[in-house]
Amino acid sequence: MCGIVGYIGEKNAAEILVAGLEKLEYRGYDSAGIAVYDGASLSVRKELGRLKNLEEALSKSPLTGNAGIGHTRWATHGMPSTKNSHPHTSMDGKFAVVHNGIIENYGELREALTNKGCVFTSETDTEVIPHLIDYHYENNGGDFLRAVKSAIVSLTGSFAIGILCKDFPDTLIAVRKDSPLIVGLGKGENFIASDIPAILSETRDVLFLDDGEIAVITKDGVSITALDGNPVIRDVHRVTFNENAAQKGGFEHFMIKEIHEQPKAVADTLRGRLSLSAPVKFDGIEPEILKDIDKIHIIACGSAYHAGLVGKTAIERLAKIPVSVELSSEYRYNNPLTDSKTLVIAISQSGETADTLAGMRLAKSLGARVLAITNVVGSTVAREASGVFYTYAGPEISVASTKAYATQLVAIYLFAVFAAEVLGRTSPEELYTIKSELLNIPELIKQTISTEAEIAALSKKIYKETDMYYLGRGLDYAVAMEGSLKLKEISYIHSETYAGGELKHGPIALIEDKTVVLAISCDKDLCGKMESNIKEVITRGAFVVLLANDATKPMHAEFSEVITVPETLPLLTPLSAVAALQLLAYYVAKNLGYDIDKPRNLAKSVTVE
Ligand code: G6P
Repeated sequence: MCGIVGYIGEKNAAEILVAGLEKLEYRGYDSAGIAVYDGASLSVRKELGRLKNLEEALSKSPLTGNAGIGHTRWATHGMPSTKNSHPHTSMDGKFAVVHNGIIENYGELREALTNKGCVFTSETDTEVIPHLIDYHYENNGGDFLRAVKSAIVSLTGSFAIGILCKDFPDTLIAVRKDSPLIVGLGKGENFIASDIPAILSETRDVLFLDDGEIAVITKDGVSITALDGNPVIRDVHRVTFNENAAQKGGFEHFMIKEIHEQPKAVADTLRGRLSLSAPVKFDGIEPEILKDIDKIHIIACGSAYHAGLVGKTAIERLAKIPVSVELSSEYRYNNPLTDSKTLVIAISQSGETADTLAGMRLAKSLGARVLAITNVVGSTVAREASGVFYTYAGPEISVASTKAYATQLVAIYLFAVFAAEVLGRTSPEELYTIKSELLNIPELIKQTISTEAEIAALSKKIYKETDMYYLGRGLDYAVAMEGSLKLKEISYIHSETYAGGELKHGPIALIEDKTVVLAISCDKDLCGKMESNIKEVITRGAFVVLLANDATKPMHAEFSEVITVPETLPLLTPLSAVAALQLLAYYVAKNLGYDIDKPRNLAKSVTVE
């Protein structure tokens, strides 16, 4: 995700901003930029690519001044490019703005501002902010704070914003709503940052802004007010952890940090797309993409493939279109029956996986329409697809996918609802129920994650095993595959997944005394059948870890351990269950002392075939 840093004081702002941005590099970004008040105007430098490109530009043409804002961008609206990178400015250069988050209503605002004569120079949602502030400034008699307040009340979405105004060189304004922002306190200097590491080498005293708060910052002081103008008194927080831990938000590994980020990632992916009062908005994808489509092929690799398996059930159940899911590496060589009546959905976190890309190209050559679901704006998959839906998981650093997988599930559920609404294949009442529950999913994932301590305790009982088996039926089978993959990837324990009904056709021969079996039973329509499978392995001495919810647990008479996840609609259970399996894999690997974020032999993005 994007990173923000801001400075006001007596030192060289550009140096402090670049040093701060360096500390945010771990977050991943595609461009970076700064704006500095140089005594006469707000000067901006921005460069595509690594921070060193910006540093080189600054070494050739330095910016001097004691107040500035900086940003590392991870594209969401508009391709990675210099013009789309931050800071963005108003037309006359009076205001410079850095922004994290998403302005949902930027389309309407852009149109309204364009009608008032504004000329936009980027494709970003962010650019509406400086133009809007400028508009209110002109209409508010040149009052910086009032102009900012007037502008932000018209913004919907999530934002952390840093703003400089050429007419007020001694003032930096920061605003927060649903996107983190802190103020760092120094002597004769103050800072803003989206993340603690950006300013940790300068100060350890910080103020955390809350949603709807505005901070007016000078070198000598900070005043925080709520949107209604009421002053806010905030205690100073002293940061005690070191820079390395700070990059991981105090977590020991990126993987566990990313597991914890899932409620936010899912909420971000739903935001602006799903509401109870309107059909699902599938970004720029028009209902025509479904015209005359008689089948869907989903292609993906790894965790994305597992998300595709869930997608098959969701789409078939709601949109009643036949769906096949294939590993991209198999699809390409299977002479697929793809034609102009096929919609191919390619799912890829990175958007660069070689096999998925090749599968997409093949599908296009066969006349299919190709829809991409990806986490990386401007990735090759995104560029080559006929339509693209972005997940907003933010950069995923741990090799083992967690939050990206969760957001892929959300994307595919949204697509299923979108298609069902377009084609009118499911009753509005049923879709309403599903939509309401989807809006509740971030909360349910939080509840699942709250069982972390129990899962960590359970991991101590099983981490020395050499083999584990995952069982499930229906969607529980799909999520079991993802749980088993996580375990393999980071703990190197041999693990396999079987559909409950297949057990007696071979795998049951592997069950011995104390063999660990993870039985996923979250679907109340299938838990009776799962109970029979669980009995079959218990009879042979298995140590059964049951993953169930309040609706299914009572159906199970015997198990060795239980992980309880929140109940949800049977169709959505993967979303509430998967975090528990991710946590289990994480703690098993942690007990074994492995390099969790960089497991052996694996790569985050597989760009070779
Ligand atoms: C690699 C990663 C997996 C990922 C898979 C597909 O194997 O380690 O976590 O699921 O690639 O990647 P993609 O970027 O296409 O989703």
